[in-house]
Amino acid sequence: MKTILIGAQFGDEGKGKMADVLAKHNDVVARYQGGANAGHTVYRDGQQYIFHMIPSGILHPGKICVIGNGCVVDVEGLRSEMAGLEERGVSFGGRFYVSDRATLILPYHKSAEKYETRVGTTRRGIGPAYTSRRNRSALTLGDVNEFLRNYSEGYERYVIGMIESDLRLHGIEGEPPGILDSAACQVEGIGDFVADTQHLLHSLVSDGRSILLEGAQGTFLDIDHGTYPFVTSSGTTVGGAYSGTGLPPAIGDMIIGVAKAYITRVGNGHLPTEQKNSYGEAMRKGGNEFGSTTGRPRRCGWFDVPLARKASEINGFGSVALTKLDVLDALPEVPVCTSYEIDGRESDFPSTGRRFEMAHPVYTTLPGWQSETSGMKEWKDLPDNAKRYVEFLENMMGVRISYVSTGPGEDDIIFR
Ligand code: IMP
Repeated sequence: MKTILIGAQFGDEGKGKMADVLAKHNDVVARYQGGANAGHTVYRDGQQYIFHMIPSGILHPGKICVIGNGCVVDVEGLRSEMAGLEERGVSFGGRFYVSDRATLILPYHKSAEKYETRVGTTRRGIGPAYTSRRNRSALTLGDVNEFLRNYSEGYERYVIGMIESDLRLHGIEGEPPGILDSAACQVEGIGDFVADTQHLLHSLVSDGRSILLEGAQGTFLDIDHGTYPFVTSSGTTVGGAYSGTGLPPAIGDMIIGVAKAYITRVGNGHLPTEQKNSYGEAMRKGGNEFGSTTGRPRRCGWFDVPLARKASEINGFGSVALTKLDVLDALPEVPVCTSYEIDGRESDFPSTGRRFEMAHPVYTTLPGWQSETSGMKEWKDLPDNAKRYVEFLENMMGVRISYVSTGPGEDDIIFR
């Protein structure tokens, strides 16, 4: 059986915490897209862990963790993330695998977006590496591994030729043999972990193991369905989970959307409910809304139903995990955007970037609960107005909210 965790907003919804909670009930955790642009924060035994590339399931002894073929991998970054975890007692041997089909991020991919300001990217080389992939000039981990293990002059010429055409694509000067040598050096360090993960995952499914597929970023940063062009370069939605692992959809797959009780966005692009005022400041402070990858302050706003509804439609959410409810505890009232007004007309989520930029939020305001919900574990203990808020959101989205997260700790959660 597969469980697929997908961000229902613009990323940073708290997928790391939910992945950690659900990892306990699964045998395998796999990432399917993105790279070190992601930042999953997990608190375990009072300690904070920030993951950029490695599935947080690695904190659970014995769980198998996989970086799937849909990911772009900065090997140096991956090795230092592994080293940091090893220092804290985490072991990788025999339970960590990186797809040989995954795309390599090379240093020039990062140089290529050093001065990027239009989209407001994380500058981790993500867009340029996926561009190389689509141009069919990217190197995969398997290409470099093959070069290392089964050397031949002909294969070396092929790999160098790929790097030459990739440098041309990005308009960057470089020495292909030197680039290949340093990539080979890096890949050698993780060679034991490079594997045919599609085959591995398929075998695990056939053996009856349960698999958690952990997405990075969120639905509206999806290259196809997001608020283009202010998006990331991968498929963050449900299709990406299947293509990024090579696992087919199956009856019984559980697709869980993760949404914050409000909304945040980093980087450029419209955020209809953004609060550039003391409410936004309070959410930023209360929710510690600063990027775990770049440290950038996140833009904060009220819950946006048209976005959440569209996310559910695209991904087929079977249920939703609502996170950070406690951040709204102090508010006397909580506005929720229930539709947009575009060009003087009521509208749902529009499909073009231009019309989305024109969307003004239409609000329904709910009474706040003004009492502490932090750390609550039982639905019955929530204040009535907090219950009403959750029920209002689930009615508006048309999806059951099955989990309500009430704090950063692994136990701060209500299972409904
Ligand atoms: P890129 O993924 O670095 O190419 O950045 C593209 C857009 O996605 C920018 O607006 C980033 O701020 C945003 N983004 C990328 N990764 C994350 C994430 O993990 N959380 C939130 N936003 C992200």
